[in-house]
Amino acid sequence: MLSYRHAYHAGNFADVLKHSVLSLVLDYMLNKEKGFSYVDTHAGAGMYRLSDATAQKTGEYLDGIAKLWQRNDLPEELAQYIELIHELNPNNKLNIYPGSPSIAQNFLRSQDAAFCYDLHPTDFGLLSELFENKRKVQVYKTDGYKSLKGQLPPATRRGVVLIDPPYEMKTDYVDAVTAISKGYRLFSGGVYILWYPVVHRHYIDQMEQQFCDSDVRNVLQLELQMAPDNEEYGMTGTGLFIVNPPWTLTRQAEAILPYLTTQLGDGDSSYLVRQLIEE
Ligand SMILES: C[S@@+](CC[C@H](N)C(=O)[O-])C[C@H]1O[C@@H](n2cnc3c(N)ncnc32)[C@H](O)[C@@H]1O
Repeated sequence: MLSYRHAYHAGNFADVLKHSVLSLVLDYMLNKEKGFSYVDTHAGAGMYRLSDATAQKTGEYLDGIAKLWQRNDLPEELAQYIELIHELNPNNKLNIYPGSPSIAQNFLRSQDAAFCYDLHPTDFGLLSELFENKRKVQVYKTDGYKSLKGQLPPATRRGVVLIDPPYEMKTDYVDAVTAISKGYRLFSGGVYILWYPVVHRHYIDQMEQQFCDSDVRNVLQLELQMAPDNEEYGMTGTGLFIVNPPWTLTRQAEAILPYLTTQLGDGDSSYLVRQLIEE
């Protein structure tokens, strides 16, 4: 089933959390000269036009990036992510929003490389057009879960993996954690970022348990909850599991998450920063 199009959701509150944390992780990777690999198993189209009918139909970005990008009280931990939004929208009008491959591209140096996968015919077409002739970003129309093991371990033994499935199929909740625990066996030193929506809390409980039952160590969990758990009203929150987070990330998350909760949420919103599994 491939009906999911990220264009409907680009720039929403979940993207803001995912992409701001991705930016912090990638920025940390630049601390060493040695190159790193970035693997994006579910890459999407790579770049989105918010004036398109898709984004306009849901207007989700209005409750996400649109509320933030021009604020003058942003915590410095959001600066690099927001700077990219300004670079893409130099005329003070928000129209272009970067997907995860474009965010990654923004950090790559000559010694780094990105490998991006997507199966959707339209979105893969847009992705390959976007990175045509860009040698550092390679795109593949293959299954991201299955392709991951071929990238691990990276030759430089430094890598960041983003797993960002659509969760159209409930099997994604289990498959995504399984992909990380298999990847971890091949490359236990990698940073793995797994995005999830909070729609039915029991799926998240199940993911946490699956991590705890696996060999994976050092898992940070972040969550931004717009409204209390509710089984009826779609996505009430969003979260990330980060395996082997940079040591700076917990402190950075503790600066970002209260700010996002206040700016994007209301009195019922909340956040979570916790070490799910110790080192
Ligand atoms: C949430 S979107 C990705 C958004 C993107 N990571 C970002 O942050 O900009 C999920 C994408 O996964 C793709 N997809 C679904 N199943 C896949 C699979 N097994 N392998 C690769 N891509 C898949 C969908 O076509 C969709 O574009």
